[in-house]
Amino acid sequence: MEIKPNLLIVDDELGVRQSLEVILEDDYTVFSAVNGLEALEILKRGAIDLVLLDVNMPDMDGLAVLRRIKEQDEEIDVIMVSALNLARKAADAIKSGAYDYITKPYEPEDILSTVNRVISKQRLHRELDLLRKEVEETRGFDQIVSQNRTMIEIFQLIKKVAYTSTNVLISGESGTGKELIARSIHRQGNRNNGPFVAINCAAIPSELMESEMFGHEKGAFTGAHTRTIGKFEHANGGTLFLDEISALRSDLQAKLLRVLQDREVERIGSNKPIRVDIRVIAATNTNLEDAVSRAKFRQDLFFRLNVVPVSIPPLRERKEDIPLLAKHFLNKFNVAFNKRIPGFGEKAIDVLTRYHWPGNIRELENLVERIVVLSTDDETIDLRSIPIEILMNSEQEPENSDYQKSGLIKIREEFEKRILLNVLEAVQGNQTEAAKILKINRNTFIQKARQFGILLKKESAKLP
Ligand SMILES: Nc1ncnc2c1ncn2[C@@H]1O[C@H](COP(=O)(O)OP(=O)(O)OP(=O)(O)O)[C@@H](O)[C@H]1O
Ligand SMILES: [Mg+2]
Repeated sequence: MEIKPNLLIVDDELGVRQSLEVILEDDYTVFSAVNGLEALEILKRGAIDLVLLDVNMPDMDGLAVLRRIKEQDEEIDVIMVSALNLARKAADAIKSGAYDYITKPYEPEDILSTVNRVISKQRLHRELDLLRKEVEETRGFDQIVSQNRTMIEIFQLIKKVAYTSTNVLISGESGTGKELIARSIHRQGNRNNGPFVAINCAAIPSELMESEMFGHEKGAFTGAHTRTIGKFEHANGGTLFLDEISALRSDLQAKLLRVLQDREVERIGSNKPIRVDIRVIAATNTNLEDAVSRAKFRQDLFFRLNVVPVSIPPLRERKEDIPLLAKHFLNKFNVAFNKRIPGFGEKAIDVLTRYHWPGNIRELENLVERIVVLSTDDETIDLRSIPIEILMNSEQEPENSDYQKSGLIKIREEFEKRILLNVLEAVQGNQTEAAKILKINRNTFIQKARQFGILLKKESAKLP
């Protein structure tokens, strides 16, 4: 059974209150108040969905009560109830935020239909809000692409953590998606109407960092011409993202710890503490525990931040994500640049999968962007579109794993042979171009190819 909505009737006449109660009590839970002050008290306790408010009351009249109600909670719906001779006043109340008005004497149906209309409007709004939130959430999660087990476990973890205010420490190499995860925690939690504020501890000059974090009063130091609000205050009610936390100076580590403990900040030059309600997510691309053991990072602060550790694996440890992400970014940049690149060829995906991605997902994203810009519509991306650095650095499956026996020279030859083959394929057998890409003389190229037993197509047309 659905819970009945709560109505509040405000009228100084007992008769009116009773008659309204009789009409409404089947469908609604009815509260009543004999004057404005009592009404405001009841409203403060919350949970009232709609107020039926008499216009003409001694002491505080209906319009004054309406204004007070709206000051207290702008969202609450109010229907004015008035004698016919005051209908004009009741209609005017709509300008002050009343939703509608009813005149006395009223028919029970009129009352019911007006009240029902407001309540179903509220229901619709709530449903829309929910829908909007759902759409945002799925869209939010869509952006994070992964089928890797560890990543899926991370998604499950952050879903649980999102609804708490627990501090989270995200670690991972550069470009692994730390900020994306941090934003996703914020978006999925109950602070998502509050701000997400990021500070990059490595990017801000150390002498400006303190003021960036805490803000300052006018005249607090030379150059402090105006009062400035710090990022902690800006993040109030939301999430503060402390990126590259290991770069934080040690005196500021101490100050941060104090904020986390006391939930208060003081602007520089002021000794008035300001309460802040923030959830802190910190990120690091270095091993913070190491920094602790080398006494570069405060252990007590580390414990405070590391309540829930999230460690994002580098891309090379989740190779199954590479084709998925490549496709994801291809779609993204097709849309962004209004292009129609249909997809990656098998060889191209293969090379991308065997590359070690030191810059992780950001590097892959940048590469796909470059490829999309340079590629021709309707042509599948093949090896020719893959930059030489990637061709040369993409790892080969060792055919002959018995390296000890074959020695270093053999390994080098094997390696060179693969690169030659990759490049030749990329340029569709054009030796002159292959030599150019490899920055070696064409004759050297041919000689090496013969040595490796690579069959070269005749380029007779180009020979003198
Ligand atoms: N799983 C993923 N799915 C889709 N896009 C991703 C994923 N992970 C990261 N990205 C994208 O890769 C880029 C880098 O991610 P992000 O900025 O979050 O990384 P980071 O770990 O904060 O990097 P840095 O240490 O360099 O600051 C962003 O454009 C982000 O949208
Ligand atoms: Mg980042």
